[in-house]
Amino acid sequence: MTLSAQRLAMEIDDLRRSQNAVILAHFYQRDEIQNLADEIGDSLKLAQVAAETTADVIMFCGVRFMAETAKILNQDKTVLLPDLDAGCSLVNDCPADKFAAFKADYPDHIVLCYVNSSPEVKALSDIIVTSANAEKIVRTIPPEQGIIFTPDRNLGRYLIRKTGREMVLWQADCEVHVAFSEQELLRVKQENPGVKVLAHPECIQEVLQHAEVVGSTSKLLQYSRESDDAALIVATEPGIIYQMQKSNPDRKYILAPAILDGRECACNVCPYMKLNTLEKIHAAFKTGQPEITLPSELMREAARPIKRMLELS
Ligand code: 13P
Ligand code: SF4
Repeated sequence: MTLSAQRLAMEIDDLRRSQNAVILAHFYQRDEIQNLADEIGDSLKLAQVAAETTADVIMFCGVRFMAETAKILNQDKTVLLPDLDAGCSLVNDCPADKFAAFKADYPDHIVLCYVNSSPEVKALSDIIVTSANAEKIVRTIPPEQGIIFTPDRNLGRYLIRKTGREMVLWQADCEVHVAFSEQELLRVKQENPGVKVLAHPECIQEVLQHAEVVGSTSKLLQYSRESDDAALIVATEPGIIYQMQKSNPDRKYILAPAILDGRECACNVCPYMKLNTLEKIHAAFKTGQPEITLPSELMREAARPIKRMLELS
């Protein structure tokens, strides 16, 4: 960390104390942000921590749908997001009006909605899921009940394969995870015989079929912590490697290659997650902006399926 980064981190620490704030960070955040967080986690863990915090201010270092979920669970608290442009392609590709029209074609189905969605789409849903609890929640639904799954079709397809349940899928992707290529992964596997692949279920099926471990960021991290593999191939956002290295520094971590227009690229780095910086966190504490605000009626409607998820988790 440079001197100015060290000074910023110290000042952020003072601001956090004086404002009775908690800093929550996702595993895809920059290393220096993970270092100053009170809690680091996947989207389920961060929602659970947000639901129980006694802090007055939540500094959410993740993407907007995560900060909105924290706000919906804490309507009286101040929730700050260092950069309001920290979005998600899954949210962008599931507009509420289009989803409402889609849903109307299946009046007897219930809606399972991935937490990577807007508050408006959550309000149209019955149960929110994350990649950590989706399989468990699908298995609680009676077999005769029809299910719509939105918005991530790759997670949806993975759940269909795992549970054998039919589901009607909305068609959106994570722009980061679909960049992992099967062909390149096979090449890397061939160059590293016997090395296991860890993959997030937002990857395409052709990639997931070559993975030994498929799961949420926390599941991949847990496998990494508990295993003694000398090397691992990782098919998710590279921010997660920082925590993997902390517990197993001597292991070799090989990033699965990402491909754009036929060429290897850095498009496995989530551009939204990386918008947050120490400078923006510092400024957000100083100014109380950008703050997440949502209409109270919308929060009431969106809270229902989120609370259902927390009960079932
Ligand atoms: P997790 O819930 O597994 O942390 O995933 C969130 C996410 O946005 C992955 O791209
Ligand atoms: Fe959204 Fe994908 Fe970024 Fe996760 S990695 S926040 S799903 S764009």
